[in-house]
Amino acid sequence: MTTFVLFGGTGDLAKRKIIPALYSAFVNGRLDPEFTFIGAAREALSDEDFRKRVATSIETYAAKANGTKEQLAAFLNLVGYTKIDAKNPEDFEVLKSRVNADTSKAKLFYLAIGPDIFIPVVEQLSKHGLVEGNARVVVEKPLGRDAKSAKEINSALRTYLNENQIYRIDHYLGKEMVQNLFALRFANSFLEPLWNRKWIQDVQISISEQVGVETRGDFYDKTGALRDMVQNHLLQLVSIVAMEPPVNANPDAIRDEKVKVLRALRKFTADDVSKKTVRGQYRAGAVDGKPVIGYQNEPGVPASSRAETFVAIRAEIDNWRWAGVPFYLRTGKRMASRCAEITINFKPIPYSIFGKGQGPLRSNRLVITLQPEESVQLFMKAKEPGEGIRLSDVALNLDFAEASNLRRVESYERLLLDALHGDLTLFVRDDELGAAWEWIDPIMNAWENDAEGLKSYIAGSWGPAAASYLLAQHGAAWGEEY
Ligand code: BG6
Repeated sequence: MTTFVLFGGTGDLAKRKIIPALYSAFVNGRLDPEFTFIGAAREALSDEDFRKRVATSIETYAAKANGTKEQLAAFLNLVGYTKIDAKNPEDFEVLKSRVNADTSKAKLFYLAIGPDIFIPVVEQLSKHGLVEGNARVVVEKPLGRDAKSAKEINSALRTYLNENQIYRIDHYLGKEMVQNLFALRFANSFLEPLWNRKWIQDVQISISEQVGVETRGDFYDKTGALRDMVQNHLLQLVSIVAMEPPVNANPDAIRDEKVKVLRALRKFTADDVSKKTVRGQYRAGAVDGKPVIGYQNEPGVPASSRAETFVAIRAEIDNWRWAGVPFYLRTGKRMASRCAEITINFKPIPYSIFGKGQGPLRSNRLVITLQPEESVQLFMKAKEPGEGIRLSDVALNLDFAEASNLRRVESYERLLLDALHGDLTLFVRDDELGAAWEWIDPIMNAWENDAEGLKSYIAGSWGPAAASYLLAQHGAAWGEEY
């Protein structure tokens, strides 16, 4: 029997992502038949009250699971609830009485709660003997606000848990196409010889969102895009795109190579920060033709807020493979379209025999789209049909929706199942987290001392003009600018 305890069981993440993911795993027969799911939060609820909330979350957010009424009823039978106050040891006694006492049975404690109460919760779990044996703890981001606080959280977690019991979740690692990056890079012979400074001009990783801060204004304003997206999702993508081939596919072999990339990212001086980073905040505009308010008018956001909702960075990796190749990173809310994309721009041909006036000579590029579609496109030059020679850009297009109709597993479902099965490959190790923060800290510090550096951009655009200039001054451009 596996016990899954969800701290923050009544919260937004639980409702939108975790419960639907668990249900989808259940419907697809991926959960142990004797699985128990216990919600835990501060509110005093009965098992029945919580089951009703679980049912609503499934009805609202788990349409893709395609479960039947009978399956929903069977799932709800596995669900219970216990009230938990992190400061109240007696609550943990009650929890203990509901958890299988056999330490050989898998137990997963998922902390979908603020980082300020991670440690008190883990301490209580440990004091009550709940993390002994086959027990694991999943921790949600944000894990700290800077390198120092992340270190403190990590060392406090390590007081009670072994590193291999700690599952630091980054949901981008569970995305189908992120997994595919490993296959693309390490299962195809023709790409590897090209995957370096000799052939690659620059790498662009862009995650644009159309949504604003939704109901999370208060949280977001204290976080900003650098901490919310760059420190974790974007740097994880950088590490997978840039890593050396691992010796095998074991979790530590992969994470050993990823962390080397994070350590090789060149740290910025204050002067670099002003030249190589752009930050912005959206003002009122329109997204997909619908008017939207500016960030400072969002609920929970102070009217004088200086938090960034957009970041663009020109990063460099100091190692043999990547020396001199810029990695352009970009993310923002309320942008023109929702898209997460990795573009590898290859170097131009050394000399054109076709002369001028032969159509665009943008060099070859490989575009890996994570969302909304899942695809890999290799853009090549070819002759346009007709008389004479006129070149055009054509794509070899691998669309995964067309290539296979096998079920798509959402990232939270995959990561939950991995955690339940004890597979750490797609979770972040403490040294990766530390190295990522070490790179972020100087940027954050420089920004704090430069209130003027925050640009504004119109909601529904591609961000501040300075983000285009960041590339243009090096003869490059973002994908949509061609
Ligand atoms: C989360 C951020 O980690 O990722 C959110 O906190 C962001 O602000 C979200 O909207 C984006 O995830 P996805 O999977 O929708 O690209």
